[in-house]
Amino acid sequence: MHKEPIIGIDLGTTNSCAAIVEDNGNVKLIPYKGGEYTIPSIFAIDDKGNELIGYEAKRQWQLNPRNTVYGSKRLVGRTFGSDVVDTMKKVVAYNMRPGKKNEVTLDVGKKEFTLQEVSAKILGKIREVASNYLKTPIKRAVVTVPAYFNDRQRQSVKDAGKLIDLEVVRIINEPTAAALAYGVGKGLKEKVVIYDLGGGTFDVSIIEIRDRVFEVKSTGGDVFLGGIDFDNAIIHHVLKDFAAKTGIDLATDPVAMQRIKDLAERTKIDLSARDEVPFNIPFITMTSQGQPLNIEMKFTRKMLEQLTNHLVDRTLQMVARVLVDSGLSTKDVDEVMLVGGQTRMPIVQDRLTKFFGKPPSKGVHPDEAVAIGAALYAHSLQDDTNLRIQLLDVIPMAIGLEKAGGAFHVVFPRNAPIPNAKQLLATTSMDNQTELAMRIFQGDHEMVARNDMLGEFTFSGIQQARAGGVQVEITFDVNVEGILSMRARDPATGREMNTTVRVTQS
Ligand SMILES: Nc1ncnc2c1ncn2[C@@H]1O[C@H](COP(=O)(O)OP(=O)(O)OP(=O)(O)O)[C@@H](O)[C@H]1O
Ligand SMILES: [Mg+2]
Repeated sequence: MHKEPIIGIDLGTTNSCAAIVEDNGNVKLIPYKGGEYTIPSIFAIDDKGNELIGYEAKRQWQLNPRNTVYGSKRLVGRTFGSDVVDTMKKVVAYNMRPGKKNEVTLDVGKKEFTLQEVSAKILGKIREVASNYLKTPIKRAVVTVPAYFNDRQRQSVKDAGKLIDLEVVRIINEPTAAALAYGVGKGLKEKVVIYDLGGGTFDVSIIEIRDRVFEVKSTGGDVFLGGIDFDNAIIHHVLKDFAAKTGIDLATDPVAMQRIKDLAERTKIDLSARDEVPFNIPFITMTSQGQPLNIEMKFTRKMLEQLTNHLVDRTLQMVARVLVDSGLSTKDVDEVMLVGGQTRMPIVQDRLTKFFGKPPSKGVHPDEAVAIGAALYAHSLQDDTNLRIQLLDVIPMAIGLEKAGGAFHVVFPRNAPIPNAKQLLATTSMDNQTELAMRIFQGDHEMVARNDMLGEFTFSGIQQARAGGVQVEITFDVNVEGILSMRARDPATGREMNTTVRVTQS
């Protein structure tokens, strides 16, 4: 074992997984107590004040829904009051509030946690299990994120690592990692589609593999589309049915909701293997006269398909867009790879088979491929490695600046290769102006208001002159991880200016 091994971590919305490449070159998944290779991405505090992470947290979530955080990856980099956050509030029992920068913070066990802190708890648990298993301290990791994460969301994962002194040496995209798990060491020459439908997010990437070169042609996704939405479709149906039968709205009862949520997910999973499943919960609530009431229903696979058809449609629309972006047609695709637990749903596989005219390949394990790919990449970053991998990735959404009137001036279009740098010349607009500020956004809309703000960059130390008299050369740098930095200089003197970034969230 390396003295300072780098592990690969798939920090999932529902499940997390870690792996490492051993000295003999074999990839090893890190097992948890009980022999599982994934742990639930759940953090809780019980009534005695104990912190629980993973299975321990999941085991008690029905009884302690208010202090059990799950699905928090969906909130990373989000603004309090945004649609996404409002939607989440309706389905989770834990309390959210606005933080200092209008980011989301969570109340758990009477304490307030930032999302970085929650991610750090889960990363910390993974690190602890890995350290015990490998019998060596772990200080470094490659961590994966959805390809469709923006700059701010990526930054947040790096910050989470810092909180526990875990150096996130590299952020890589989940579908790209899955492609590594599939292709490293096979001497392939193929174009593959990675279709990753997990618990919280959907990603699709088209990747050209030429032996050890993995070139992402295009990527797309939706960080708010995943297994949780399939569960919610069942939950809504159950609530509606119950309200119609009894006039009682169970949505206001967190313990009842947690029981329904639990069974909804199990029902969904069972329906991947069976045509019909009962949905019974005894004593879910009581009438005003104190009579116990039960949920007694039945779900068929057909019903589930009807309730979730629109979700599968959305994934296929994105697949179509990504194909167009790559300039390829379905015929050019050699393999379609399924990643993420939700791809076990038969209709997802059927629809993909129709779309591509051939069945998806089972070339990778849907739950483990991302962690394995992360471990392979981690291994390639070790000092004394003989594994060479070249990753050529892209940014998922355009990055640019705000123009007058709120229009979005694109500096890097979506699918621009990374790393990447661009320069732009600006001039002062007032006499004796010493500072220049610009607001930077990421997204695919023409108006900045509909995109995510990455920050307000201020360049100071401009020499005093009349309006339009000085130029400022601004450099936009997107690193290999898809994270932006900016700097500015005076092209006349070559002098670098001071740059400060303020991340106020609008
Ligand atoms: N047999 C199955 N049929 C349908 N859905 C399933 C099945 N098995 C697991 N799932 C669903 O897969 C989802 C979890 O997938 P996965 O572990 O890949 O997600 P994740 O990596 O945690 O999330 P993400 O990648 O979105 O951050 C859950 O919603 C789960 O209900
Ligand atoms: Mg995943």
